[in-house]
Amino acid sequence: MLAASSPGRRRLVILISGRGSNMQALVQACRQENWPADIVAVIASRPDAAGLRWAGEAGIPIASVYHRDYAGREAFDAALAEEIDRHRPDYVILAGFMRVLTPGFVNRYADRLVNIHPSLLPAFPGLHTHGQALATGVQVHGCTVHFVTPLLDHGPIIAQGCVPVLGGDSPESLAERVLAIEHRVFPAAVRWLAEGRVSQTADHRVVVQGDPQRLYMWSAGNAPAD
Ligand code: GRF
Repeated sequence: MLAASSPGRRRLVILISGRGSNMQALVQACRQENWPADIVAVIASRPDAAGLRWAGEAGIPIASVYHRDYAGREAFDAALAEEIDRHRPDYVILAGFMRVLTPGFVNRYADRLVNIHPSLLPAFPGLHTHGQALATGVQVHGCTVHFVTPLLDHGPIIAQGCVPVLGGDSPESLAERVLAIEHRVFPAAVRWLAEGRVSQTADHRVVVQGDPQRLYMWSAGNAPAD
Protein backbone atom coordinates (compact mmCIF):
# COMPACT_ATOMS: atom_id res chain seq x y z
CA MET A 1 0.00 0.00 0.00
CA LEU A 2 1.21 3.51 -0.77
CA ALA A 3 0.13 6.38 1.45
CA ALA A 4 -1.04 9.62 -0.10
CA SER A 5 0.54 12.85 1.10
CA SER A 6 -0.54 16.41 0.38
CA PRO A 7 1.81 18.67 -1.57
CA GLY A 8 4.21 20.59 0.65
CA ARG A 9 4.10 17.99 3.40
CA ARG A 10 7.25 16.03 4.09
CA ARG A 11 7.16 12.30 3.65
CA LEU A 12 8.83 10.26 6.39
CA VAL A 13 9.69 6.56 6.18
CA ILE A 14 10.61 4.90 9.48
CA LEU A 15 12.81 1.79 9.68
CA ILE A 16 12.65 -0.50 12.71
CA SER A 17 13.93 -3.90 13.78
CA GLY A 18 11.97 -4.75 16.90
CA ARG A 19 9.78 -3.24 19.58
CA GLY A 20 9.36 0.11 17.87
CA SER A 21 8.72 2.32 20.88
CA ASN A 22 10.59 5.21 19.28
CA MET A 23 8.56 4.77 16.10
CA GLN A 24 5.38 4.92 18.20
CA ALA A 25 6.58 8.13 19.86
CA LEU A 26 7.18 9.64 16.42
CA VAL A 27 3.80 8.59 15.05
CA GLN A 28 1.96 9.89 18.09
CA ALA A 29 3.81 13.22 18.10
CA CYS A 30 3.32 13.67 14.35
CA ARG A 31 -0.42 13.18 14.76
CA GLN A 32 -0.97 15.03 18.03
CA GLU A 33 1.19 18.02 17.12
CA ASN A 34 0.02 18.23 13.51
CA TRP A 35 3.46 18.19 11.95
CA PRO A 36 3.57 19.27 8.29
CA ALA A 37 4.57 15.69 7.52
CA ASP A 38 3.18 12.23 7.00
CA ILE A 39 4.68 8.95 8.11
CA VAL A 40 4.15 7.18 4.82
CA ALA A 41 5.59 3.77 5.74
CA VAL A 42 7.14 1.73 8.52
CA ILE A 43 9.56 -0.88 7.20
CA ALA A 44 11.15 -3.59 9.36
CA SER A 45 14.28 -5.66 8.86
CA ARG A 46 12.39 -8.72 10.09
CA PRO A 47 8.78 -9.74 9.56
CA ASP A 48 8.18 -10.49 13.25
CA ALA A 49 9.22 -7.04 14.48
CA ALA A 50 6.67 -6.21 17.18
CA GLY A 51 6.42 -2.60 16.10
CA LEU A 52 5.14 -3.55 12.64
CA ARG A 53 1.86 -4.78 14.02
CA TRP A 54 1.35 -1.59 16.00
CA ALA A 55 2.05 0.53 12.92
CA GLY A 56 -0.35 -1.52 10.82
CA GLU A 57 -3.07 -1.12 13.41
CA ALA A 58 -2.36 2.61 13.41
CA GLY A 59 -3.19 2.64 9.70
CA ILE A 60 0.34 3.14 8.41
CA PRO A 61 1.52 1.17 5.36
CA ILE A 62 3.97 -1.49 6.56
CA ALA A 63 6.52 -3.74 4.88
CA SER A 64 9.40 -5.95 5.90
CA VAL A 65 12.64 -6.69 4.11
CA TYR A 66 14.09 -9.65 5.96
CA HIS A 67 17.86 -9.55 6.05
CA ARG A 68 18.08 -13.36 6.18
CA ASP A 69 16.46 -13.59 2.76
CA TYR A 70 19.48 -11.92 1.16
CA ALA A 71 22.94 -13.24 0.48
CA GLY A 72 24.79 -10.24 1.89
CA ARG A 73 24.63 -6.62 2.93
CA GLU A 74 24.69 -5.25 -0.62
CA ALA A 75 21.74 -7.35 -1.72
CA PHE A 76 19.78 -6.58 1.46
CA ASP A 77 20.44 -2.85 1.16
CA ALA A 78 19.40 -2.85 -2.51
CA ALA A 79 16.09 -4.52 -1.66
CA LEU A 80 15.57 -2.19 1.27
CA ALA A 81 16.26 0.88 -0.89
CA GLU A 82 13.80 -0.37 -3.49
CA GLU A 83 11.07 -0.69 -0.86
CA ILE A 84 11.91 2.69 0.67
CA ASP A 85 11.92 4.47 -2.68
CA ARG A 86 8.41 3.26 -3.50
CA HIS A 87 7.26 5.64 -0.79
CA ARG A 88 9.23 8.65 -2.13
CA PRO A 89 10.47 9.81 1.28
CA ASP A 90 12.01 13.16 2.08
CA TYR A 91 13.57 11.61 5.19
CA VAL A 92 14.37 8.05 6.24
CA ILE A 93 14.32 7.68 10.00
CA LEU A 94 16.16 4.82 11.71
CA ALA A 95 14.26 4.12 14.93
CA GLY A 96 15.88 1.09 16.49
CA PHE A 97 17.03 -0.28 13.14
CA MET A 98 19.67 -2.83 14.04
CA ARG A 99 21.42 -3.45 10.72
CA VAL A 100 24.68 -1.83 9.68
CA LEU A 101 24.09 -0.13 6.33
CA THR A 102 26.53 -0.11 3.42
CA PRO A 103 28.20 3.17 2.36
CA GLY A 104 26.27 2.95 -0.92
CA PHE A 105 22.97 2.92 0.94
CA VAL A 106 24.02 5.73 3.28
CA ASN A 107 25.21 7.91 0.40
CA ARG A 108 21.99 7.32 -1.51
CA TYR A 109 20.12 9.06 1.32
CA ALA A 110 22.83 11.57 2.22
CA ASP A 111 21.50 14.33 4.50
CA ARG A 112 18.10 12.56 4.54
CA LEU A 113 18.99 9.62 6.79
CA VAL A 114 18.62 10.10 10.55
CA ASN A 115 19.30 7.74 13.45
CA ILE A 116 18.83 7.63 17.20
CA HIS A 117 21.71 6.10 19.12
CA PRO A 118 21.50 5.25 22.83
CA SER A 119 24.59 7.11 24.03
CA LEU A 120 25.98 10.61 24.10
CA LEU A 121 28.03 10.37 20.92
CA PRO A 122 30.92 10.41 20.25
CA ALA A 123 31.06 8.24 23.40
CA PHE A 124 30.10 4.60 23.00
CA PRO A 125 29.33 4.01 19.33
CA GLY A 126 28.19 0.50 18.44
CA LEU A 127 26.33 -1.98 20.62
CA HIS A 128 25.85 -2.46 24.39
CA THR A 129 26.11 1.24 25.11
CA HIS A 130 24.54 1.04 28.57
CA GLY A 131 26.94 -1.67 29.70
CA GLN A 132 29.82 0.37 28.26
CA ALA A 133 28.65 3.43 30.19
CA LEU A 134 28.51 1.47 33.44
CA ALA A 135 31.87 -0.17 32.84
CA THR A 136 33.50 3.18 32.14
CA GLY A 137 32.05 4.87 35.21
CA VAL A 138 30.58 7.89 33.42
CA GLN A 139 28.07 9.78 35.56
CA VAL A 140 26.04 11.07 32.64
CA HIS A 141 24.69 9.06 29.74
CA GLY A 142 21.96 9.56 27.18
CA CYS A 143 21.02 9.48 23.52
CA THR A 144 21.88 11.24 20.28
CA VAL A 145 19.83 11.97 17.17
CA HIS A 146 22.19 12.40 14.26
CA PHE A 147 22.49 12.34 10.50
CA VAL A 148 23.89 9.04 9.28
CA THR A 149 27.23 9.00 7.49
CA PRO A 150 29.22 5.99 6.30
CA LEU A 151 31.23 6.00 9.54
CA LEU A 152 29.04 4.13 12.05
CA ASP A 153 27.45 6.33 14.76
CA HIS A 154 29.48 9.41 13.86
CA GLY A 155 27.27 11.77 11.83
CA PRO A 156 26.38 15.42 12.54
CA ILE A 157 24.44 15.76 15.79
CA ILE A 158 20.91 17.19 15.69
CA ALA A 159 19.93 16.77 19.36
CA GLN A 160 20.93 14.96 22.51
CA GLY A 161 19.27 13.90 25.74
CA CYS A 162 21.14 13.22 28.95
CA VAL A 163 20.32 11.22 32.04
CA PRO A 164 22.25 10.56 35.26
CA VAL A 165 23.87 7.22 35.91
CA LEU A 166 22.66 6.22 39.38
CA GLY A 167 24.29 4.02 41.96
CA GLY A 168 22.93 0.51 41.62
CA ASP A 169 22.06 0.93 37.94
CA SER A 170 22.09 -2.15 35.76
CA PRO A 171 22.29 -1.96 31.97
CA GLU A 172 18.52 -2.55 32.00
CA SER A 173 17.63 0.21 34.46
CA LEU A 174 19.91 2.63 32.63
CA ALA A 175 18.39 1.64 29.28
CA GLU A 176 14.93 2.36 30.65
CA ARG A 177 15.96 5.85 31.82
CA VAL A 178 17.61 6.59 28.46
CA LEU A 179 14.60 5.30 26.53
CA ALA A 180 12.32 7.73 28.35
CA ILE A 181 14.41 10.63 27.15
CA GLU A 182 14.75 9.14 23.65
CA HIS A 183 10.97 9.41 23.43
CA ARG A 184 11.25 13.16 24.00
CA VAL A 185 14.36 13.99 22.00
CA PHE A 186 13.56 12.03 18.85
CA PRO A 187 10.13 13.56 18.19
CA ALA A 188 11.54 17.04 18.79
CA ALA A 189 14.37 16.51 16.32
CA VAL A 190 12.21 14.88 13.65
CA ARG A 191 9.67 17.64 14.02
CA TRP A 192 12.41 20.19 13.18
CA LEU A 193 13.18 18.16 10.06
CA ALA A 194 9.50 17.99 9.17
CA GLU A 195 9.27 21.74 9.54
CA GLY A 196 12.25 22.24 7.21
CA ARG A 197 14.31 23.96 9.89
CA VAL A 198 17.42 21.77 9.86
CA SER A 199 20.50 22.51 7.77
CA GLN A 200 24.22 21.81 7.94
CA THR A 201 27.21 24.12 7.73
CA ALA A 202 30.05 23.47 5.27
CA ASP A 203 31.95 21.79 8.11
CA HIS A 204 29.01 19.50 8.89
CA ARG A 205 27.57 21.05 11.99
CA VAL A 206 23.81 21.10 12.31
CA VAL A 207 21.94 24.40 12.47
CA VAL A 208 18.28 24.50 13.50
CA GLN A 209 16.34 27.58 12.50
CA GLY A 210 14.98 29.41 15.54
CA ASP A 211 17.86 28.02 17.59
CA PRO A 212 15.80 25.79 19.92
CA GLN A 213 17.43 24.10 22.88
CA ARG A 214 18.88 20.89 21.45
CA LEU A 215 19.83 19.25 24.74
CA TYR A 216 17.12 17.51 26.73
CA MET A 217 17.82 17.00 30.40
CA TRP A 218 16.44 14.25 32.56
CA SER A 219 14.56 15.35 35.63
CA ALA A 220 12.36 13.60 38.14
CA GLY A 221 9.41 14.84 36.08
CA ASN A 222 10.40 12.72 33.13
CA ALA A 223 11.35 9.61 34.98
CA PRO A 224 10.93 6.35 33.08
CA ALA A 225 7.15 6.15 33.32
CA ASP A 226 6.90 9.45 31.40
C1 GRF B 1 16.60 2.34 21.31
O1 GRF B 1 17.28 2.41 22.52
C2 GRF B 1 17.41 2.99 20.21
O2 GRF B 1 18.16 4.09 20.63
C3 GRF B 1 18.33 1.87 19.82
O3 GRF B 1 17.56 0.70 19.90
C4 GRF B 1 16.48 0.91 20.81
C5 GRF B 1 15.23 0.66 20.05
O4 GRF B 1 14.09 0.69 20.85
N1 GRF B 1 18.93 2.10 18.53
P1 GRF B 1 12.64 0.76 20.17
O5 GRF B 1 12.56 -0.36 19.14
O6 GRF B 1 12.49 2.12 19.57
O7 GRF B 1 11.68 0.53 21.30
